Amino acid sequence: MGIPTYKQEPFEWYREMRKSSPVYREGNMIHIFKYKTISRILSDHQNFSSQFRDLLGEEMAAMLNEKTTPSILLLDPPLHTTLRSLVGSAFTPRSIELFEPRIRELARMLVHAIVEKENSDVVSDLSYQLPIRVISEMLGVPESDSEIFRDWSDKLATSLGRGPDIETQYDMADYFYKKIDRNSNGNNLISRLSTVEMDGRKLSDKEIAGFAILLLVAGNETTTNLITNAILSLYDHPEIYDDMRKTPSIIPGVVEETLRYRSPVQSTRRYSKIDTEIGGEEILKNDILALYLGSANRDEEVFEDGESFNPYRKEKRHMAFGQGIHFCLGAPLARLEARIALEEFSKAVPGFEIEKPSPDDRIDSDIMYGFRKLNLKVNRS
Ligand code: HEM
Repeated sequence: MGIPTYKQEPFEWYREMRKSSPVYREGNMIHIFKYKTISRILSDHQNFSSQFRDLLGEEMAAMLNEKTTPSILLLDPPLHTTLRSLVGSAFTPRSIELFEPRIRELARMLVHAIVEKENSDVVSDLSYQLPIRVISEMLGVPESDSEIFRDWSDKLATSLGRGPDIETQYDMADYFYKKIDRNSNGNNLISRLSTVEMDGRKLSDKEIAGFAILLLVAGNETTTNLITNAILSLYDHPEIYDDMRKTPSIIPGVVEETLRYRSPVQSTRRYSKIDTEIGGEEILKNDILALYLGSANRDEEVFEDGESFNPYRKEKRHMAFGQGIHFCLGAPLARLEARIALEEFSKAVPGFEIEKPSPDDRIDSDIMYGFRKLNLKVNRS
């Protein structure tokens, strides 16, 4: 069975591969499908590296390094540890909770517009709008720039897993350089990143720009897809939607189950720093490991009846936010936004119809799972 394109549902392929070829070599790319194996690789950052710039030719690496340093997502310790604690201190769950009232206000406004319109596109009217507005406000950039951000975010999401998009990275870096203010005492993320200090170490301009770009790339499309995928899954399960309207306390369970069942990030990568063996397959130094989180999240050895959507399931150890030292820094924000979006949606929308998306509506990405549009009609009963 060949590797599906983004237009095909990958889940049947995963199931087949977990059974027949859980570790599958294709040239220097090793595809890995089982939960336990992926977990082992993600927790061994000494042997399995995220630092892909080390593999690029010198010319390409120099071009990328001209305007930004690699983001924490693409660094190994010790630099990863230092930078993660620096940015982490400006991105704590506590500072995110402070945004709850504003996120609710935005979500309520967007959902009300959907109810008024009757026919809408969930993606452009709600699930895209909420994360981009929240992150723009957190970064302290004006809402009027949100169209530029959408364009950049789309371009970078498409380039993920297909090689860096240098032009877009340069444009974004130039944009953020102008926002850096070392003397600012503002409360937005850019000002805090510009002034944060640890053991006498501050973030350089390149590091600030690199981190702001990462927040946009890692935080937007992913959370958009989480909200859209949740609404699609609820449409397939009207009984769960009814439960949710009666008992909003099950909403966090719906969010977790969407993360598992339709994981917004289907895969991530590492490369091997050693010659070794994984699941009986010989691995050579510099082989690329494609780790299918979306497959681990349905692995029958971990999740009973993993192919069905069940927010009441007990086993919640999904890997949608990764695992180990690179565990998603934005997980509390993504969970908060999705929970609030679903709370406001279910309060205002008694029932809804959806035009099932076609494969062409899937976003054009080998890594992300989501839809470009999802037409919805509100039932007013
Ligand atoms: C890392 C998924 C939302 C910021 C990751 C990783 C995954 C992931 C799988 C680890 C990748 C790896 O180990 O190679 C998701 C999903 C999201 C989401 C599914 C939404 C549903 C966000 C948001 C932000 C964010 C909202 C911030 C605004 C980050 C950062 C990292 C990261 C900074 C890198 C952490 C590190 O390398 O130490 N995310 N993410 N993410 N995510 Fe998220």
